[in-house]
Amino acid sequence: MELLSPRPGVSQIKAYRPAQPQGDERAWIDLSLTMNPLGASPKALNAYRHAATQIHRYPDARQGALRRAIARRHDLDAERIVCASGSDELIQLVCQAYAGPGDEVLCHEHGYQGFLKAIKVSGAAPVVAKERDLVVDVDAMIDRAGEGTKICFLANPNNPTGTYIPLEAVQRLRAGLPSHTLLVLDAAYAEYVRRNNYDCGSELVETSDNVLMVRTFSKMHGLAGLRVGWAYGPSSVVESINRVRSAFNVSVPAQAAAIAAIADEEHEEATYAHNSQWLPWLTQELEQLGVRVYPSVCNFVMARIPPDPSLGVAQVMEHLAHRSILVRPVEDYGLQDCLRITIGSEEENRALVAALAEILS
Ligand SMILES: Cc1ncc(COP(=O)(O)O)c(C=O)c1O
Repeated sequence: MELLSPRPGVSQIKAYRPAQPQGDERAWIDLSLTMNPLGASPKALNAYRHAATQIHRYPDARQGALRRAIARRHDLDAERIVCASGSDELIQLVCQAYAGPGDEVLCHEHGYQGFLKAIKVSGAAPVVAKERDLVVDVDAMIDRAGEGTKICFLANPNNPTGTYIPLEAVQRLRAGLPSHTLLVLDAAYAEYVRRNNYDCGSELVETSDNVLMVRTFSKMHGLAGLRVGWAYGPSSVVESINRVRSAFNVSVPAQAAAIAAIADEEHEEATYAHNSQWLPWLTQELEQLGVRVYPSVCNFVMARIPPDPSLGVAQVMEHLAHRSILVRPVEDYGLQDCLRITIGSEEENRALVAALAEILS
């Protein structure tokens, strides 16, 4: 019998490996995924419970109420919003709609891994531009763009580095790309960034023809488990995504909870305040242990473990696992001596620092 082989590119993709060891059901302190330590908004939880009586129905395929809620909150045109099952799905949908074998898709060296996966699944060739000290290098990206570049992905700020580039640099990138290239701005952590020179992408969507902004409810809004993402862009791009996506890709409870979450500014403020308190605290504590921490504007830090032949990332993670703490190794991002650590609750942050002090000091 002849074995079926998948499409080219698929065999180059590594299946996702969660940080938690299989079969180990301990109550972990999970700082390996970039979740909200305060959980979801109470209003979203309430809406989710109410939606239970409606789950025999198919969801609203037009996503009307959700799109209007997003538009209201961010002062956008609801007609140019499309929602999906997490922003990961939007990244995949864009690739499916705009790239295929023979095309190139541009991304950046330590950029979010969902880009590479989606590009490979589409059959297009990934082109990876170098970064400078873990920050996107716009000139390097422009240099790598060409006739065949269908899409350019930029995570701003980026996961796992936590760094961002200012609006002026993003504008320069747009201007330097071919006009036929769709610039996709993934702003999954935008709600955490309050800097004068930062823009989540909506300004560029309004002022250029070929920019799509992608956002998520998984981070600041604490709905990672429900899977809701959204995109805002030109009508033609939104229409293409609507054609490709499954009609019922955002479930009834997910739409209901997201509508409540995006209106809950109180929960957003509490989350922002928590992050603003503990991000500098964790940075300082890690630095005191000799760990280099890159300047993050997100809800996680990128930590470089000091060089020591007898103590690498693997040993640090093993020690943390003994204390039931999970963090994210990033060797698959080409960062062998680094760990990505999410800002947890006060108790979790203190437990992490205490466990690291046992092994690093
Ligand atoms: C930069 C970035 N983009 C997209 C995603 C995907 O998020 P989700 O699919 O949960 O919306 C993540 C999640 O970690 C991310 O860090």
